[in-house]
Amino acid sequence: MRQSLIMGNWKMNGNLQDGQQLAKALAEGLGEVQQEVAVCVPFVYLSGIRDVLASSPIALGAQNVADQASGAYTGEVSATMLADIGAKYALVGHSERRSYYGDTNQTVANRFCQAQKQNVIPVLCVGETLEEREQDRTFQVVDEQLDAVIDAAGIEAFANAVIAYEPVWAIGTGKTASDDQAQEVHKYIRERIAARSQAIADKVQILYGGSVKADNAKALFAMPDIDGGLVGGASLDAKGFLQICHSV
Ligand code: 13P
Repeated sequence: MRQSLIMGNWKMNGNLQDGQQLAKALAEGLGEVQQEVAVCVPFVYLSGIRDVLASSPIALGAQNVADQASGAYTGEVSATMLADIGAKYALVGHSERRSYYGDTNQTVANRFCQAQKQNVIPVLCVGETLEEREQDRTFQVVDEQLDAVIDAAGIEAFANAVIAYEPVWAIGTGKTASDDQAQEVHKYIRERIAARSQAIADKVQILYGGSVKADNAKALFAMPDIDGGLVGGASLDAKGFLQICHSV
């Protein structure tokens, strides 16, 4: 049985005070849960949020990680630094990084490997655009995004990684993939992993992301290959995010 994971992605929102208030409300409101809960916060607030979450089970994550280990890479934040500050997770290849900041399957694979080397768990984001879906290329796009990482890191790397399926057309649009649409791609991803290792396919958590809200989370999380969610906008509201956390 896979443990569920509910992860908030705060993106580039709020200030330190907002983040600390939100983290405090989550820590106080979460209660006893079986599932894991994590928040991916802006780099500059990692330590400030870590301090608020110190006595709670909520894990800390970053929204990106450098594709190089260290050195003259102005503006980048390495996996070593993330590990040092107490980040358990790092998103890699979020569609906003791919579309606005030039991330490619290759740089995403490098980020994934850098995170793993420092025991920061990479959360590999994959997903198609609306145009790609309309052209019936969803599986092909997901294959390419996954294969680049499997080729670079090896299938065994997925024993210690998370995959997030986030159809780009569902991100921030209010248009959630239907439960069946999401399940179809999750199942496909798991089968793709299973073709290389059944044991890893059985174990790897595959999260759904894209307009997850308190009112649609339960049905999505009930699908057999959906192991939780990567939540953007709705993770900025403590009450709504806690409801999502309790929808597993
Ligand atoms: P929304 O939940 O705002 O659609 O964002 C999803 C996402 O991008 C999470 O990483």
